[in-house]
Amino acid sequence: MLKLRTLLVLIGAALFGSAVIAEQQSPAQAGAPQPTTSQRAAGQASTYRPVATVQEIMDAIISPASKAVFDAVSTEVTATGAVEKAPKNDEEWATVRNNALMMVEGANLLMLPGRHIARGPVDAKAAHEAGELTPPEIEARVAKDRATWNRLAAGFRNAAMVALKAAEARKPGDVQAAGEGVDGACENCHIRYWYPDQVKTLDRADQALRKRK
Ligand code: HEC
Repeated sequence: MLKLRTLLVLIGAALFGSAVIAEQQSPAQAGAPQPTTSQRAAGQASTYRPVATVQEIMDAIISPASKAVFDAVSTEVTATGAVEKAPKNDEEWATVRNNALMMVEGANLLMLPGRHIARGPVDAKAAHEAGELTPPEIEARVAKDRATWNRLAAGFRNAAMVALKAAEARKPGDVQAAGEGVDGACENCHIRYWYPDQVKTLDRADQALRKRK
């Protein structure tokens, strides 16, 4: 909870900071030529400074937030019967809601252009053996067809919005169903960008199995 708040504050501070810088750099002083519309649009785009990699956004924001939503509601069958787990008070519902909100805004962060996938050296052989693309390969894929990347991020945002509404309505069943939708949206993107080779491997295994039957 505390970590979550710290992050939100940091994100807020970063956005506020870049707004202030943009203000200071504006050439509105006497005598300075006024920017054209396209210059203004370009200036606006350059006020964003993506710092975290996609990998870091997954680890710092999206993955923990999704876990909080996935784990908020569950049914455990024990020897003495089913034990339902659901948020029980204002604070617990607020935690679910805030985590859904982190996913929604996390999706927006994924759409910001100029963000790298990961940093540091890449062991391409190990990645390929695990059926994964390397971060530079993922980056090339995103650059080639940014619209698809944005569409998958938007699909994730929509799924997270459903979770947000369910948390606001305080409906445990809806939160659980929304969690499944979110999970599907994570996988839609991962299958296309992160481990498409794994899918091919699974497909091949599947075909081989069917041929044998
Ligand atoms: C729009 C695309 C997209 C969506 C949506 C998405 N991811 Fe990812 N995710 C990626 C990419 C690309 C990587 C691979 C980055 C890398 O090289 O590790 C990744 C990597 C990860 C990793 C590994 C990070 C690491 O340290 O290696 C985790 C965990 C993860 N995602 C969780 C999730 C969860 C959970 C969701 C949904 C709640 C989600 N992601 C939604 C694109 C996405």
